[in-house]
Amino acid sequence: LDNGLALTPPMGWLTWERFRCITDCEAYPDECISENLIRRTADLMVSEGYLEAGYEYLGIDDCWLEKKRGPDNRLVPDKKRFPNGMKAIADYIHARNLKFGLYEDFGNYTCAGYPGVLGYEQLDVTTFAEWEVDYIKLDGCNVDRYRMDEGYPDVGKMLNATGRPILYSCSWPAYQEDHMLRSHQRDAGFLLKDSISDSVREGRWRGSGSSELLFTGQNTTAKAITSLLYSPNYKSIAKHCNMWRNWNDIEDSWSSLLGVMDWFGNNQERIATFAGPGHWNDPDMLLIGNYGLTVDQAKVQMAVWAILAAPLLISADLATMRPEFKEILLNHRVIAINQDRLGKQGLRVFQKKDAGERKGLEVWTRELSDGSYAVAFVSRRDDGAGYAAKFTFEEMQLPSDDYLVEDLFDEVPERKLNSDDEFPVRINPSGVKFYKFYKLKQNDNKSPPQADI
Ligand code: DGJ
Repeated sequence: LDNGLALTPPMGWLTWERFRCITDCEAYPDECISENLIRRTADLMVSEGYLEAGYEYLGIDDCWLEKKRGPDNRLVPDKKRFPNGMKAIADYIHARNLKFGLYEDFGNYTCAGYPGVLGYEQLDVTTFAEWEVDYIKLDGCNVDRYRMDEGYPDVGKMLNATGRPILYSCSWPAYQEDHMLRSHQRDAGFLLKDSISDSVREGRWRGSGSSELLFTGQNTTAKAITSLLYSPNYKSIAKHCNMWRNWNDIEDSWSSLLGVMDWFGNNQERIATFAGPGHWNDPDMLLIGNYGLTVDQAKVQMAVWAILAAPLLISADLATMRPEFKEILLNHRVIAINQDRLGKQGLRVFQKKDAGERKGLEVWTRELSDGSYAVAFVSRRDDGAGYAAKFTFEEMQLPSDDYLVEDLFDEVPERKLNSDDEFPVRINPSGVKFYKFYKLKQNDNKSPPQADI
């Protein structure tokens, strides 16, 4: 979306992954979605250096509302948990130079059952602007997914018309991806009658498995298209949104993280080119600082999110953040890769799934604006000892050249790699080595990593 926002991937903090829909403030005073949590987090974002590192949006996800709209149909924040209303929250956030993010849902209800915007879009957008919201995450529960192709752009236009710069985070493709007609027979009649001809013309159904089944037109039965998957219209999504969730929610575990990485690697051909300044694919929140990832696994997420040019949204309790996780989140060299102004999403360029040498290793590479490359070597193995391997230029998808190699996580001396060498790495189990490769010839004007921001 060309609204001057999100020229690099948005950075901030969001309640959902860590704090979910905790609403019982008597039982869980430090965790419930409330004014207290937001004020405490705002203070810590500033005092602990997160804002300075670039994390500027402070977002409230689902479960901030009263269950019913007010007499004037306006949205009402939960009266107990947000006793001073949302404008007071915005003021508190803005006074600390942070920006205010808020969640709503395009449907009748949010995923957790609070009022959604459907039918009240204009009124709600006006309300958000009055509250001085800077970022809207618009979820997609409780609505027909084929209404989104028009509905999300419509809300975006209303946001734009407020005159207030409001970053627009969409969940539109997340509700359309991996959607097979088979599992939604109820939709089939609607699709065949109404909108399917458009999406067929645009080539948005793709084979999955038995691609011999070709869609031939309106007379084709629902049965004949059961093996086709729907492809979201990413061109339109990138035009109308600053960022968009593509797939399932991330959970606080290594297996969930691997699942998200797999989806982004497996679908990169379809989605990566839609990322760029102003419009980003969103693999979901950072888990770092919670319960499920080890320090090495946390580095994997940070590195791969940097390669993917992904929004960096922390979802953890900053009050109890352990220093080793904080160090990962605040690593300015890795953040600089994520924020590189070229905005080109990197790719999984090597993957060894089967048994044998280098089993479980992946290489993820991203081209950067100064002609250098960021390369992450990920090991999915969790069987103990560190794992040594060598990679060719082709496997890393680097142009064959002489490079100076900087380790982005560890303070170790720079290494050199010559054009006729292979690159040896040793990776911790379920861990990552993350490097920046500078071409030696342009090394004279090698700029410090942060100069790119
Ligand atoms: C589904 C979204 O994908 C999550 O990130 C979160 O916003 C929940 N809904 C809230 O109900």
